[in-house]
Amino acid sequence: MVEKVEVPLADRSYSILIGSDLLTALGKELSDLNFPQRIAVISNPTVDQLYGSVVRTTLEKSGFSLQHFNVPDGEKYKSPETLQSIYDFLIKNGFDRGCGLIALGGGVVGDMAGFAAATFLRGIPYVQVPTTLLAQVDSSVGGKTAINHPLGKNLIGAFYQPEMVFIDTTTLNTLDQREVSAGLAEVIKYGMIHDSHFFCWLEDNIVKLKNRDPLTIIYAIRRSCQIKAEIVEMDEKEGSVRAHLNYGHTFGHAIEKLSGYGQWKHGEAVSVGMIVAAKISAQQGLCSQQDVERLTNLLLAFDLPINPPDFSLDDYVVAMQRDKKVKKGTLTLVLNRGIGGVSLYKVKDISSVFSPLL
Ligand code: NAD
Ligand code: GLY
Repeated sequence: MVEKVEVPLADRSYSILIGSDLLTALGKELSDLNFPQRIAVISNPTVDQLYGSVVRTTLEKSGFSLQHFNVPDGEKYKSPETLQSIYDFLIKNGFDRGCGLIALGGGVVGDMAGFAAATFLRGIPYVQVPTTLLAQVDSSVGGKTAINHPLGKNLIGAFYQPEMVFIDTTTLNTLDQREVSAGLAEVIKYGMIHDSHFFCWLEDNIVKLKNRDPLTIIYAIRRSCQIKAEIVEMDEKEGSVRAHLNYGHTFGHAIEKLSGYGQWKHGEAVSVGMIVAAKISAQQGLCSQQDVERLTNLLLAFDLPINPPDFSLDDYVVAMQRDKKVKKGTLTLVLNRGIGGVSLYKVKDISSVFSPLL
């Protein structure tokens, strides 16, 4: 059975299709979309080896002509140099405005291929085929595309919506347990910021989620996508409520940056970032100690980290000052109000807020 979540954005609306053993239907779905006949599939060697041939077969069966380009695997390659190599491939092979692009992989491939689609010839259509849990619940949805800069995460990017998000949950069977946990950190984020019932449901389904029980995983992905779609529909370009999705990310991005891209998984860094945010929330009287404990216990149940790595306060402060959420020297932190809601908190003196927590 295929589940559908709509992302309603006027002429940029699209569907998220979710189901198991879906990949062989990709060609037909793209035909139904009238997707361009000539396609560049952007992936990496790990994902290509696992799913490249299924994708090739289904697309060719439906009459598409495609060429495949792999970027190196890893967050440290989400860089201007790798982006340049995608442009080189597209230009040398004569791709034009009548062509389309498919991002096949995790969030690194999705963000970078999406940015290539946004900028190549001022924009060509693309489809996200996410293959990690993190990409299926978060990065493939909502049109944020980007590469990293040596001075900060995702600093170069564009809002550019895909034509479809196509989620085959069976691809999660080949994923490391550490990657599944990293994805679950973003799932927990949705419970913390938006839906206390969903948070309780996660607490009740720890074992099934860890064992990747198919129906349980599909529900977690569908609910996460619904929440993200609802927020993106209200605020596509992060003028207001979309910022809530950055819960745990300011501190998380600082961890990723300071430890060297790729040492910490994005979801692991967000896990620590959520604990830091929850502790600040408790200090501000926005949530109880019991709420912080429930979040801690849920993250620990999925083997996620909760303690910041050992960098100096100054290092953290400098890294956070480069965050996209800093405007005129003021950092806006997303804090949880209890479990299931948020409050925005403006911080001028970053050191004094974070020093008790490090
Ligand atoms: P990733 O893309 O690096 O994938 C993790 C690893 O899993 C990689 O080694 C990859 O090759 C491998 N892999 C992918 N699919 C696989 C499969 N089915 N089986 C086996 N191995 C597989 O990491 P990620 O966690 O998916 O994404 C993290 C990135 O997403 C970060 O760069 C982060 O900034 C970005 N992100 C973006 C958004 C957004 O809104 N655009 C949101 C959250 C995160
Ligand atoms: N992952 C944050 C966002 O999509 O806005």
